[in-house]
Amino acid sequence: MPGSDGSTALGRGVREALSGMRGAVREHVPLAPLTHLRIGGPADWFVEPSGEEDVALVVATCRELGLPLYLLGGGSNVVIADAGLRGVVMQLGSLGRIAREQHRVTVGAGVSLPSLLRATKEAGLAGLEVLTGIPAQVGGAVAMNAGTRDGETFDRLVSVTVVENDGRLAERGKDQLTPRYRDGGLGAAVVVQATFELTPDDPAAIFARFSASLKARNATQPVSQRSVGCVFRNPPGDKAGRLIEAAGCKTLQRGGLSVSARHANYLVNDDTGSAAEFRALLREVRDRVRARFGVALEPEVKFWGFDDPELPPGCLDFGRS
Ligand code: EPU
Repeated sequence: MPGSDGSTALGRGVREALSGMRGAVREHVPLAPLTHLRIGGPADWFVEPSGEEDVALVVATCRELGLPLYLLGGGSNVVIADAGLRGVVMQLGSLGRIAREQHRVTVGAGVSLPSLLRATKEAGLAGLEVLTGIPAQVGGAVAMNAGTRDGETFDRLVSVTVVENDGRLAERGKDQLTPRYRDGGLGAAVVVQATFELTPDDPAAIFARFSASLKARNATQPVSQRSVGCVFRNPPGDKAGRLIEAAGCKTLQRGGLSVSARHANYLVNDDTGSAAEFRALLREVRDRVRARFGVALEPEVKFWGFDDPELPPGCLDFGRS
């Protein structure tokens, strides 16, 4: 819990440093309601900066004070530890602008993908419907290079505006980025805006593709249950869901968490589950697949606040550029 010795002085330091920030600064904020999985303890600090300069101020402050900084987007791809997070969680929901110039759209990091897809469909601009059904915000989708079988976020990306880890705002063209499968390759840079180049098309045709994709997803994935989506990356040449099912994991359960009977690469929470149970079930699934097939599945989901040498900490790494 916060309030350990010295946190008062640190708290004063944080408040003072962020006094010039436009937007909300709150302490001890429960995080579980902000995630799709509905798991996780509170954040010491939760900030919602109003504009790009305010994001820059938060980044510079955390770097100077040595505070871990976590970026929460749509909360759909993260497992937060039961004890919560020491440091600052930042959400960019206020960066909600969508601007169109001919076939290009420039979008704030806090815009949700579903609302962006709706806006571009109505404008008769095609290309983003390959991202149908992904419950992310634009910033998170770019950072993760979120995608489906039909395509990924970087397919139509032209450039991004980022806050570098020293607090400077910078523009990066696609040619300056090195995305991979489910990783935008941005390091510790915070995406505040992204520009996509789209293709004019009939809104009805765009809608038809969107609907077909949504239907397929609803038929094969447990979309109405609490989860983080697919837990593991697909290994080269195979499918994590297939391997997990074939390793006999579909009946596995740890407390409130179980392997989905509909899609084995989903772990679903019955509303009573904990982060510790999620971690234990993930380990069991990974171990069974390794024992049966010799394949080491790699998580695509992010873990925050786990004191576990196997898991990256999940906060921005101010040691890297
Ligand atoms: N499969 C099984 N058992 C299962 C689940 C799947 O045998 O329990 C088999 C299916 O029969 C199919 C194959 O595995 O032959 C692939 O399954 P699916 O079509 O559902 O696609 P996927 O590769 O598991 C990927 C993305 C999803 C995305 C879908 C549809 C990854 C890790 N997953 O799933 O993304 O929605 O394609 O485009 O790349 C996510 O990233 O969170 C996510 C859900």
